[in-house]
Amino acid sequence: MHYDVEYVRKQFPALNVTVNGQPAAYFDGPGGTQVPQRVIDAMVDYLVRCNANSGGSFLTSQNSDQMITGARLVMADFFGSEPEEVAFGHNTTTMIYQLALALGRELGSRKEIVITEIDHEANRGPWLALEERGFTIREAKINPETCTVDMDDYQSKLTDKTLVAAFNYASNGVGTISDVKEMTHLAHAVGAIAVVDAVHYALHGPIDVRALDIDFLLCSAYKFFGPHLGVLYGRRDQFEKLPTYRLRVQSEAVPYCFETGTLNHEGIAGAGEAVEFIADLGACFGDFSAGSYAVSDCNWSERRRQVMAGMEVMEHYEQPLAEKLIHELSSIGKVKVYGPPPGHPRTSTVSFTIDSVPADKIAATLGEKGLFVWDGHFFAARLVERLGLDKSGGLVRVGLCPYNTAAEIDRLLEEIKIIAK
Ligand SMILES: Cc1ncc(COP(=O)(O)O)c(C=O)c1O
Repeated sequence: MHYDVEYVRKQFPALNVTVNGQPAAYFDGPGGTQVPQRVIDAMVDYLVRCNANSGGSFLTSQNSDQMITGARLVMADFFGSEPEEVAFGHNTTTMIYQLALALGRELGSRKEIVITEIDHEANRGPWLALEERGFTIREAKINPETCTVDMDDYQSKLTDKTLVAAFNYASNGVGTISDVKEMTHLAHAVGAIAVVDAVHYALHGPIDVRALDIDFLLCSAYKFFGPHLGVLYGRRDQFEKLPTYRLRVQSEAVPYCFETGTLNHEGIAGAGEAVEFIADLGACFGDFSAGSYAVSDCNWSERRRQVMAGMEVMEHYEQPLAEKLIHELSSIGKVKVYGPPPGHPRTSTVSFTIDSVPADKIAATLGEKGLFVWDGHFFAARLVERLGLDKSGGLVRVGLCPYNTAAEIDRLLEEIKIIAK
């Protein structure tokens, strides 16, 4: 069936918001997406029907545990993993700190960690903190012209002393999708552990942790229609070896060894429902007649096939919109678009500057018109420094989601033309 953006939009109550008489156009997805009603309902239902702590012998606690077990299964279908390989937590930043703290306890000969210039600080800061424990942090460069990781430089930074290679799946700053399979392969070739930040990517493409052979991967549900919480995938063999800090009364088994304290139960309910929403997009609009989603011998569950199809549906809808946006932005005088060259894998996140107009001024002017965009470095601070934009206010970022329309993009472009004049 043809993608029906109006059907999708109706599910998001926040799209009814207006600003100065204009409907809000949410281009702020890379900072956090809006939430469909069914996700809100799932969280409310949790609080009404299941609100209790884990492990009790009474109805609400049993309902609560059942919900968490169910949501873990859903997230496993999102990653293509086993449910025991899925841990819930506060957010990605905090969970990478937890990972770094645990891996930093390793007292072996591997005392180097590779990070990249394109990464969000969430996948840099926690590793840089390990310098205090005697680790050497090596930084793989980007090519500023193409906003891509310099793969030769990345490979040259990996040695037989590398404990961890930490890199993102896609850049939240400029939308570049990296060759995560190759980066993981190169990390494994020297015996290092690959830690992948999939926070930006998770809204923009299917994740298959088995096919990529990733060791640890993280994402945050609020970037894909869910509430504010983080989710970790840990490949069972690596996860079981991880020397986590935990309470003595806490289970040593994965994934519980990583889940310190009481979890955000209503958030977990919402995260599971957000993935079910993506699966429903796949079920409604996916093309199951061709491609891997039609293959029944790959032992994927029905829901996993629908999730994978749902991701494809969203990208098929967003990519032409992103191309239109890049094309038309580039033709406006004084506007410079940053990001990978045409043909390079990218998300539908587009960043730009306008000569002599600071990014915060652009975002504020657009905000008054109900056009919500982010400005600055979005915590991809090293990338913005390398692009030479750190002193001038950074980038303006437009993120597309499956609820954005071509008409909203036209509205945005009209306002940008006025600002550029
Ligand atoms: C690529 C990327 N990594 C990590 C993070 C941090 O995620 P969290 O806010 O869940 O800690 C973000 C948030 O914007 C991000 O875009």
